[in-house]
Amino acid sequence: MTEFDSLARRLEAQFGAGGRIDACRAPGRINLLGEHVDYNGLPVLPMTLDRGVSAVFRAGEGETVRVGNIRDEFAPGAFANRSPIAASESGSWLNYCKAAVEAINQRFGLVEGPGFDLVVGGTLPRAVGLSSSTALVVAVALAYLRILGKNLDTTISRIALAELLAQGERYVGTQGGGMDQAIILLGDADSACKIDFFPLRVERVPVFADHVFVVCNSLVPVRKSGEALRQYNAGPALSRLIRALVEKQAQFAFGAEVEIERLGDLWFGPLCLTDGEVEALFAETFPRPRTTLAEASARLGMSEDEIRRQWLGELPEPADGFPLQARARHQLTEHIRVNQGRDCLLAGDAETFGALMDASHRSCAEDYFVSSPELDRLVKIARDAGSIGSRLTGAGFGGCTVNLVPRAELEEFDARMKREFYDASTSEGADDMTMIPAIPAPAASYRDL
Ligand code: GLA
Repeated sequence: MTEFDSLARRLEAQFGAGGRIDACRAPGRINLLGEHVDYNGLPVLPMTLDRGVSAVFRAGEGETVRVGNIRDEFAPGAFANRSPIAASESGSWLNYCKAAVEAINQRFGLVEGPGFDLVVGGTLPRAVGLSSSTALVVAVALAYLRILGKNLDTTISRIALAELLAQGERYVGTQGGGMDQAIILLGDADSACKIDFFPLRVERVPVFADHVFVVCNSLVPVRKSGEALRQYNAGPALSRLIRALVEKQAQFAFGAEVEIERLGDLWFGPLCLTDGEVEALFAETFPRPRTTLAEASARLGMSEDEIRRQWLGELPEPADGFPLQARARHQLTEHIRVNQGRDCLLAGDAETFGALMDASHRSCAEDYFVSSPELDRLVKIARDAGSIGSRLTGAGFGGCTVNLVPRAELEEFDARMKREFYDASTSEGADDMTMIPAIPAPAASYRDL
């Protein structure tokens, strides 16, 4: 019996027999380089995984959407498909289903949509930072499109759907960029992708033949609610303040009419600055490591309240101000690393790629503050165990690292990681997934039952 057969049985057991059942699957993802830059419109270098979220679905009755999950920790739920769909409590998995349905309703101008039944399963552990939540959003979106009789690729392109769902996922409260949706819908077997935003573009690049990206779980779960959500959203919030200050500085340098909608515009907008010119502009904008709200207010000619209202929200200000200089530096250096990383993949230069991964991890930790003691420790142990480049992957604060390991040394790496990290761990997360070789898989698609 296939995975989809058992999901279909579960659907009939849960919601009653009958009706034509269809299936789809959306892969998870790792990011190789380019962390916390997508929401600023800067390119990223992720890749799909051969672990993913699977779903079966069928048309339902009336306007009720009923969803079930093969994992018991996710309670089944139901909601009326009437836009705007009210969110469940923060942290509920139902919100990811609602986010997909709501986004598609808005895209096609539907106020009342048809009901459907859906059951979710798959091989992607949750809360390990491999994008199980976006894979779920994409799977529900594919299901709902089919229920509506809308054809992926002809009625709505994959690019358009990725952009729609990147916006749509904000329904759950994250202010993320579009990396996860794009790689899940546009990635491919055997390759990583360089993804550019605004407009969304994807370039497939081959992965190394003689090296493997190994995913290691730090066993610290990443959640997308509560404190974790606040920690993640600090990145986009402070990036908005950085953007405003840089725009002001650019107006002194290049003329009052210059507009920078997002930081990426520095490179790609009408300014088309070089990396060196961006570095100089950042140095003028952030001459000191920290910027206080009072200082930002004086430079922008806006009240502190207005800055909070527009960009920062409730983010608490440290006594000595926000570390904007380092945060801006991360955007610049990570951008350079993504471009260099793409070139290394094309050239088959694993050594240099590994060095870029190490530098990226340092930058994530020291300049962007998204690492954790466990991730730092895991990276260090992996380097000692034979990886030639190691870094956190995804949002950070927990979850997984990605490690570039020579294929010939995989077994030794595996054994040493077990000995040095996993055997000593008592964390319950260990059962779910500890280490896997990352094998790039096809993008999200419908499947035959
Ligand atoms: C999460 C978000 C992405 C991206 C990464 C960090 O996965 O969903 O948009 O910002 O974090 O690179």
